[in-house]
Amino acid sequence: MDQEAYLSQVDATRPERIRWWQEARFGMFVHWGLYAQLGRHEWVMNRERIPVAEYEALADTWKPKERPAREWARLAARAGMKYVVMTTKHHEGFCLWDTEQTDYSAVRHGPGRDLVREYVEACREYGLKIGFYHSLMDWHHPDGARCAYDEAARRRFLDYTQGCARELCTNYGQIDIFWHDVSWPLPTPEAWESYKMNAMIRELQPGILINNRSKLAEDFGTPEEHVTAAEEGRAWEACMTFNGSWGYMPSSPDWRTVREVIGMLRTAAAGQGNLLLNIGPAPDGSVPPEAVERLTAVGKWVERNGEAMYGAVDRADRDRMEWMPTGGWTIKGNTAYYWCTRWPGPELAIGGLRVKVLKASILATGEPVSFEQTENRLVLKGLPAMNPDEIAGVTVIALECDGPPRQVLGAGCVVLE
Ligand code: GLC
Repeated sequence: MDQEAYLSQVDATRPERIRWWQEARFGMFVHWGLYAQLGRHEWVMNRERIPVAEYEALADTWKPKERPAREWARLAARAGMKYVVMTTKHHEGFCLWDTEQTDYSAVRHGPGRDLVREYVEACREYGLKIGFYHSLMDWHHPDGARCAYDEAARRRFLDYTQGCARELCTNYGQIDIFWHDVSWPLPTPEAWESYKMNAMIRELQPGILINNRSKLAEDFGTPEEHVTAAEEGRAWEACMTFNGSWGYMPSSPDWRTVREVIGMLRTAAAGQGNLLLNIGPAPDGSVPPEAVERLTAVGKWVERNGEAMYGAVDRADRDRMEWMPTGGWTIKGNTAYYWCTRWPGPELAIGGLRVKVLKASILATGEPVSFEQTENRLVLKGLPAMNPDEIAGVTVIALECDGPPRQVLGAGCVVLE
């Protein structure tokens, strides 16, 4: 298949393939590898210039406990996440699955078993969709850097990379996402043979979604460490660390709060995007308690308020709705959801709505809220004095309207037509 035919087939099949993902909103990223034993970030090998031979020793000392992936999957499901993406091989080059491409794998070293298979089985057990992260950049493979200037090395390295992708897409049943990362050191998709590689992945997994990090746009964009919407019509997923490191890093105290995670979910939903929030399990596979605690609380909140974020949401950012000092919006059909984060007291006023509100209620409880709507101002009345959401202080008010919600305020107190 030539490149043009490939791209038009990918475009033509995307709406069908991507529907579940666009309604899922929330996924778990899992970064787990040899680096967890050092606990100093997944880039530790590179940042501290640890020689390959010294780093390799970590392959034999790694002894994870039994089936930790079940803990991740249970936590993900409890947090309201609908899919998981796990590092099958990070930049360090250690393969977590049973591979024929190299001896440097979990099966042939310390763990003595296929950690990817355990992960896949755990996701299936908890009804989660399955993603494979796979790093193109490889600090361990002898051709991983040499491929940039040595043609024979490039050939060997591409065969290796494609062999890895082939195994991952052949040996584990249905896989839902292939998440490439870091296309160093080759400069173009041609040099990486990305068309060929991704066409193979799609042939083996016809329903799969592929991210944009093999130097091809493919199915979705991947803003990293910021939740920024793509232009309308382009799918996107913000990947975020929980504490500033993807890999296990117990020295980092910078955990995002429950409120921050909920805020990221709103921004994602307002831009029709997804949030892929990371955990970096400890060497034995257990999830840091800070993450467990926060994700459990997020899950409780999402259980009550999920309607405001899951499913076929509309854009609620930019031209559609305005910024507000007391909260922010998401929209689905004729309903606008106001995520109130700074509770004003018994009355909450919202200007500029260009639709008639038919009904207002507190989403978590279904309790109706009385209101008055005049020309340019909606005033919700009789609210509790304090924010009633005791999980994170984020109360969602659902406004059912007589049409698709729109808000126009502008900078002045008179709207200039
Ligand atoms: C970056 C980092 C990598 C991490 C990834 C997640 O590309 O190199 O360590 O896995 O982002 O998006």
